Amino acid sequence: MSVEKQVAAHYGRSGSEKPLLDALRAAGKDVDRLTTADLAPVDEFHLGWRAATVGFGKALAFPSGAHVLDIGSGIGGPARYLAETFGVTVTGIDLTPEYVALADALTRRVGLADRVAFREANALALPFDDASFDGAYTIHVAMNIADKAKLIAETRRVLKPGATFGIYDVMRVAVGDLPYPLPWALTGETSFVEPSAAYRQWLGAAGFTIVSERDRSAEVKEIVRANRERLEREGSSALGPHTLMGPGWAERSANAGKALQQGLIAPVEIIARAA
Ligand SMILES: C[S@@+](CC[C@H](N)C(=O)[O-])C[C@H]1O[C@@H](n2cnc3c(N)ncnc32)[C@H](O)[C@@H]1O
Repeated sequence: MSVEKQVAAHYGRSGSEKPLLDALRAAGKDVDRLTTADLAPVDEFHLGWRAATVGFGKALAFPSGAHVLDIGSGIGGPARYLAETFGVTVTGIDLTPEYVALADALTRRVGLADRVAFREANALALPFDDASFDGAYTIHVAMNIADKAKLIAETRRVLKPGATFGIYDVMRVAVGDLPYPLPWALTGETSFVEPSAAYRQWLGAAGFTIVSERDRSAEVKEIVRANRERLEREGSSALGPHTLMGPGWAERSANAGKALQQGLIAPVEIIARAA
């Protein structure tokens, strides 16, 4: 099976609307009047969840009215948050059909379907003309993609000159075996974690200049600690990253925490500008 098929199968298991709506109801939410804030505990699939997207959005600083591309948009939490907060229009693409369908359904539920849309596509072959977008970002996707040079070159192709491209990804900090299963991959076969220096090189080769780079480990550790306390306080019906991820989530999430604490990986944000 190709890496793409394995990746889509891995994520697709957690892409149904019904268990999500049941969990939202159990948490006291009115699923016919959902807000982006209601969804925040469950629709952001990356280290630091919504809190991390808030900081990333500030760093991206897309101007209101810009049309931006979300590469590997998941179930759409970051796209909806950025559209609502910054007044941008977002097109999200993702490999996993279940996530694309759920992203669209949730976007309709929060009333953002006129500004946020999703389609199934591979980040390595974007179905868009050259210079189609005013900006782009990708959050925790590249660690599932071996050919990051191609991912970045393909992103540059669809961006207008001067456009901002932000990457927030799990990057390699030290040499050492990663403890699988991890949230993004059950084995090393679909996991390609690389150091930020390699990303900078690929970005430069594709015609980007680096604007900033930030290791967000300390912030993420604090967010994880606060989330653990919240879940303990609120009990078993509390919404959280576990809501969609099923029974294997605890082990995968604990392993990511271990790798972060051991200094093997870090959530790193790089902001670049297209030449
Ligand atoms: C950890 S999730 C992150 C989702 C979203 N960016 C977020 O932060 O909530 C990784 C996502 O990347 C997608 N993905 C992985 N490889 C991809 C590829 N080659 N092309 C498009 N999407 C891909 C997966 O389907 C999955 O939805």
